[in-house]
Amino acid sequence: GRKLIIDTDPGVDDAFALALAARSTEVDLVGVTTVFGNVPLEATTENARRLLNRFGRADVPVAAGAERPLVHAQSRSSSVHGADGLSGRSASLAAAERELETADAVSMLVSLLERTDEPVTIAPIGPLTNIALLLAAHPRIRDRIERLVIMGGAIGRGNITAAAEFNVWADPEAARRVLVEERVPVTLVPMDLTRRCAVSTDWLAELAEGNAIGEVLVSLTGDYLDHYRKELGYDGIVLHDAVAVAEAIRPGILETERFPVDVDCSFGPYRGATLLDQRRWTHREANGEPDGPSIEVAVDTDLDGLRKFVLDGIRG
Ligand code: BDR
Ligand code: CA
Repeated sequence: GRKLIIDTDPGVDDAFALALAARSTEVDLVGVTTVFGNVPLEATTENARRLLNRFGRADVPVAAGAERPLVHAQSRSSSVHGADGLSGRSASLAAAERELETADAVSMLVSLLERTDEPVTIAPIGPLTNIALLLAAHPRIRDRIERLVIMGGAIGRGNITAAAEFNVWADPEAARRVLVEERVPVTLVPMDLTRRCAVSTDWLAELAEGNAIGEVLVSLTGDYLDHYRKELGYDGIVLHDAVAVAEAIRPGILETERFPVDVDCSFGPYRGATLLDQRRWTHREANGEPDGPSIEVAVDTDLDGLRKFVLDGIRG
């Protein structure tokens, strides 16, 4: 199958996304890189290694990447995933058998991308720092990337702030570099769509029913479930990252539209917001505005079909 690399900051929904890719027969998961985000880098790296090990994928190399944003340090972190990123349950997963790669994330990405003859899909599901560094330091590597399928951005309301989605907000300068400055094929999967792909506690029960991997994943959901119960009054969770990884595994499972995009890197209330130019092309042309860089943005999907794809994919 197509080769896939995941760049991640586990994170409960990252864990679901990793399980989906690790167990897919449609793609070949060739590497995982980690980034700071939901919790500090040391924890996201440990979580990624333990998860892959638990999913029976000790063959997948893991390399650690950026421990902070490119330019401006973040003042807040996300508490949604618990202190260790996995609802306090990280230590319930056995330590990984496989050593962490001595190479850093960018170096491993370069060697994985150079090694294969066909272009590789990368699914970044955390802050975009590693990907910005990769593209900045290795401009020629662009040709080796088939597509970036990114979980990030908010067209309407944000989550970490009123305007911004967490992954973009956590390193807006990096996100701007990747989404706006680089001409690499991008499919952005914003939270406007991912939050519609919420799954209920019934869905979680079905995932765990007689399935060891499903059971492990559900055991990691405690703090994340509490968040959705308390803050949104919803009895279930949102699988943001798994939605992007589903698209990386099965291109076209999400419906996309092309939009010019920008990222707000100012220090006002819109810092980290993603701005799509949703005026019609004809309108823009009539006004004589040059079309800026544009990307594919996931706008819709068959929600039940997607939930089934994730459920079946993880259950294997
Ligand atoms: C994104 O932020 C993180 O908390 C999740 O893992 C996901 O990648 C959603 O905004
Ligand atoms: Ca994530």
